[in-house]
Amino acid sequence: MTTRVFLSGQWLPADEARVSVMDRGFLFGDGVYEVIPVYSRQPFRLEQHLARLQKSLDGIQLANPYRLEEWIAIVLQLAGEAEWQDQSIYIQVTRGPMAVRNHAFPKEITPTVLLLAEAMSTPPASQRQEGIAAVSAADIRWLRCDLKTTSLLANCLLRQLAVSAGCVETVLFRDGFLTEGSASSIFVVKDGVLLAPIKNHLMLPGITYDVVLELAAQHGLLHEVRDVTEAETRDADELWMCSSTKEVLPIVALDGRAVGKTVGTGGTPGPVFTRMYDWYQEFKAKVMRAAA
Ligand code: PDD
Repeated sequence: MTTRVFLSGQWLPADEARVSVMDRGFLFGDGVYEVIPVYSRQPFRLEQHLARLQKSLDGIQLANPYRLEEWIAIVLQLAGEAEWQDQSIYIQVTRGPMAVRNHAFPKEITPTVLLLAEAMSTPPASQRQEGIAAVSAADIRWLRCDLKTTSLLANCLLRQLAVSAGCVETVLFRDGFLTEGSASSIFVVKDGVLLAPIKNHLMLPGITYDVVLELAAQHGLLHEVRDVTEAETRDADELWMCSSTKEVLPIVALDGRAVGKTVGTGGTPGPVFTRMYDWYQEFKAKVMRAAA
């Protein structure tokens, strides 16, 4: 059985869904998206994801094609129909097709809306037990990284740097400061204190980032939300990455150097990560999977 996708008002088998070659999403990457984790068929923080979608739409001056209740109904229908209990739901809204290729917006806009569900594939146990390796790079993206736009070429090139080096993520620095990962939020731990970069136009306001900070506050882990320098990141006792699909993972090597150690090319997940991981799993079982 193939789960149906939602395409601009129609429910279709994925292989029958078609988008025009003149769609601005295809030609210009002119669109926005969301990825919503679903556990036991319960979309997690759906309203926050839809609020972020609204901000992204506002940021690219594209009117929201649906009301909040309509979005909720579509997402719940998809989550209910999909073949997996745990899923990630992808939403994409583009500025739709144009008659003639032209950078300026068409006068009449018919947005293209796509929703599809995929099986949620959380990271293998080995990645959280042994940690992952990352590389670093200059953050070459534009200055509105707070918008979740489908124009992800820079993110793709940056992620590929990691993959080509046999690593999982690329940690990004701009003007001497930590921003985020190519597709994740990054945290630093130093002297038992969790450091989180301030949400601004240079990073995506991660929903998992919020969860990590909430768990830190609930469990009394000291944390600071402030600018984090590249030097502090390189000198971290622990480095973590997090996202809706990766959950929280320890980065044990950065650019071939062990994180938190003066020698070696790889470390082990630190004690603060181990606590956060347990809090996150407890939260997932008790809150994320709980019936709405
Ligand atoms: N990306 N920063 C970037 C650049 C991201 O692409 C993502 C997630 C995050 C984490 O956001 P959240 O916790 O809300 O998932 C931070 C998704 C998963 C993706 O593009 O597939």
